[in-house]
Amino acid sequence: MKITEYCSLARYNTFGIDVTADCMVEWASADELIALLPELKRPLLMIGSGSNLLFTGNFHGTVLHSTVDGIDVIAEQGSQITVRVGSGVKWDDFVAYAVLNGWWGIENLTGIPGEVGAAAVQNIGAYGVEVKDVIDTVQTIRLSDCTRCDFSNAECGYGYRQSIFKNELKGQYAVTHVIFRLSLTPQPKLEYGALEHEVARLGGPALANIRSAVRTIRESKLPDPAVLGNAGSFFMNPVIPAAQFERLKSEFPDVVSFPADNGMVKVSAGWLIDRAGWKGRSIGPAAVYERQALVLVNRGGATGSDIIRLADAIIKDIEEKFGITLKTEVNYI
Ligand code: EPU
Repeated sequence: MKITEYCSLARYNTFGIDVTADCMVEWASADELIALLPELKRPLLMIGSGSNLLFTGNFHGTVLHSTVDGIDVIAEQGSQITVRVGSGVKWDDFVAYAVLNGWWGIENLTGIPGEVGAAAVQNIGAYGVEVKDVIDTVQTIRLSDCTRCDFSNAECGYGYRQSIFKNELKGQYAVTHVIFRLSLTPQPKLEYGALEHEVARLGGPALANIRSAVRTIRESKLPDPAVLGNAGSFFMNPVIPAAQFERLKSEFPDVVSFPADNGMVKVSAGWLIDRAGWKGRSIGPAAVYERQALVLVNRGGATGSDIIRLADAIIKDIEEKFGITLKTEVNYI
């Protein structure tokens, strides 16, 4: 366990915004957290590696960061393997481990920053796969009374970049472990965009090829936060009713979209922002990334307010041009 008072959060958010927390606790096990909880200054904020956070000022409470480690096989039945992973494990280290061991299901989620606990809260997704597709159970501690609570996949209330832990139960549970169900037999999912082509170029749908192909495609579009502060997609792709989509398409025939559940349509926010002329534009030190309009970047020294000023200008403009209100994927703190 590590406790730091007046801790800079600059290395705990991928935008690199320099604010402080009154107290930062890095906890390595459920027992450690339970022992400490009654003593901690409130409010509490649980973070992973801060790849979906935007700090708008100093945090006057305790930030909790899991360093719970371990990737353990707990069962193998037929072609399925069940693996329990600590919430503090780096997401991409887990993907690398799975690929090395021949476990299928998360290879399309290669290269996503962040940690396993936050991945389960955020329901990370890319290239046609969401992490909810392979989650069996999320193991947590309820902060109000220190009890251990397991949530089955169905109890997590998963949707597109949504879970119960971001909504009804926001801030109430700390994730200690996530139990995944992966496949020992090949299950390639290559339908999204340029993936199939890139995998074929590398020699076909082996796990290692899919991992390299995803990495190549991501690197061509998404900036490395270590070089240019960012939090991946800043906005979610809006999901709108089919009738509204038909009206949009009649005015903008080249609008990019994907089918969503219940006859709704997911519209590419990147396309909307790009089409509205924002790609590469900046307001002060906050900018729209020139290769992916859905990504906002800190060109150096930006505050949370600088990023929000740019985000608000984009939201207003998209509303005026397309009648669609963008929602942020990034959480403001
Ligand atoms: N597009 C443009 N201009 C742009 C960006 C996109 O026209 O500046 C159009 C293009 O037609 C492109 C299409 O939108 O082909 C889709 O773009 P992309 O494949 O980059 O995906 P996205 O919908 O913008 C989503 C996720 C990403 C994920 C990719 C790949 C969300 C909010 N974002 O982005 O996730 O990596 O799909 O699956 O759903 C993240 O959540 O942080 C993230 C990076």
